Amino acid sequence: MQAHSNGCVAPLTRRDALKAAGAIGATVAALPAVHGQTPSSDVIRVGLIGAGGRGTGALQQTLSVPGSNVKLTAIADAFDDRIKGALKAVEPMKEKIDCPEDRQFKGLDGFQKVLEHCDLVILATPPGFRPFHFEAAVKAGKNVFMEKPVCVDAFGAQLCLAAAKMADEKKLKVVVGLQRRYDQKYRETVAKIREGLAGDIIGGQVYWNGAGIWYRNRKPEMTETEFQVYNWYHFNWLCGDHICEQHVHNIDVANWILDRLPETAYGVGGKQNRVPGQPSEIYDHHAVNFVYPGGVRIASQCRQFPGGDGRVNEEFQGTKATVKIGEITGYDGKVLWKFEGKSDNPYQVEHDELHDAIRNDKPLNNAYYGTTSSFSAVLGRNATYTGKQWGYQQALDLNNRTMPENLTWETPAPVVPDKDGNYSIPMPATYKIVADKKETA
Ligand SMILES: NC(=O)c1ccc[n+]([C@@H]2O[C@H](COP(=O)([O-])OP(=O)(O)OC[C@H]3O[C@@H](n4cnc5c(N)ncnc54)[C@H](O)[C@@H]3O)[C@@H](O)[C@H]2O)c1
Repeated sequence: MQAHSNGCVAPLTRRDALKAAGAIGATVAALPAVHGQTPSSDVIRVGLIGAGGRGTGALQQTLSVPGSNVKLTAIADAFDDRIKGALKAVEPMKEKIDCPEDRQFKGLDGFQKVLEHCDLVILATPPGFRPFHFEAAVKAGKNVFMEKPVCVDAFGAQLCLAAAKMADEKKLKVVVGLQRRYDQKYRETVAKIREGLAGDIIGGQVYWNGAGIWYRNRKPEMTETEFQVYNWYHFNWLCGDHICEQHVHNIDVANWILDRLPETAYGVGGKQNRVPGQPSEIYDHHAVNFVYPGGVRIASQCRQFPGGDGRVNEEFQGTKATVKIGEITGYDGKVLWKFEGKSDNPYQVEHDELHDAIRNDKPLNNAYYGTTSSFSAVLGRNATYTGKQWGYQQALDLNNRTMPENLTWETPAPVVPDKDGNYSIPMPATYKIVADKKETA
């Protein structure tokens, strides 16, 4: 469905946003906040951490929630030009911007300062940082919108699960940017499956087979660590590889529909066709078989190079019928159900429902499934990088960590290029995932 860039710096006009948010926006405006912690007239102060494409899009969306009194009050990014870019993108909403220079924080540690100036924080840095930012946000008592994936290793998953629990204890509201969960077509398909229209789901296929991804070239003045953070997609410690960064959307749909987590993963992957002259340590394709409790199999594929047929979707087979999102068909070819409703922009719905939960103190915490689905993708990567079958619990218990502690621009980069500027690629014959430590080839 949505291409990767969708929902980034969104071309949403105010009118689109109002239209997209529809009923939920109306509810927010109309309901008195009897038990609410943030009555509807109170301003929600928003902080943004990670002011790139998606962070800017999420900011526009949170500022567009109909009927919600909201202001951007602080912003942080590793790089100053991204801060300026995000502020420029929201200039048309200037009545909702109260973010002077002394609340614009450049560098890797600005997130702590943003947390001092907001009620709701958007976390949209490269995902390697997410568990640490999520934990800090929850400790500081902030409501959170955070982008997927929420972790790229077991250490991060454990941090997120602990922070999710703390968020519940503090009654904080957390939305994760797995927007299919906020898409009416998906929601109704899941409801029909739960009603039993397809019988028991016994298998499925999930895909993100698309073209390549951006590459940001090194600038001469950058340290190696600075270059890797800038060009984060191509480094496992920051991105988690594209099975995690991108394909998490489809793996999450499998977990949601099956209402279970995979027990094991086994697969293959490699780097076949990335652009020459653009050194990258991540694979460009992975194919993983996930086995779920009850013996249900999900075949997962993701690919990032042009050519062939692209496919980004999810399909499932039940004992009575097959499921495509929005359509359930019997094995005799008869269509049993077809989605005839309308999906409002799910990127906007995420924020509408988050504000509604904050204002009316409704329970809302996506951090559990956000973490377990992100970690299911990590499990798949463990399998493709090592060539071995991995158990979910085995992988989680390993508690391996890829992000260095107390990262600064001077911290030695976790991976270094060879004399030709290339990074080593995980080779299944030799690749080891080391407990409680960074992964090493
Ligand atoms: N839900 C979706 O459909 C969707 C779409 C795109 C991206 N995303 C997710 O959003 C996140 C951001 O992706 P993007 O496309 O916006 O990337 P991006 O590179 O455009 O933005 C990331 C920003 O974070 C900044 N940054 C890096 N480290 C930081 C730190 N420690 N503190 C503060 N800022 C830091 C970078 O300088 C950059 O401006 C990723 O997790 C990505 O997977 C989700």
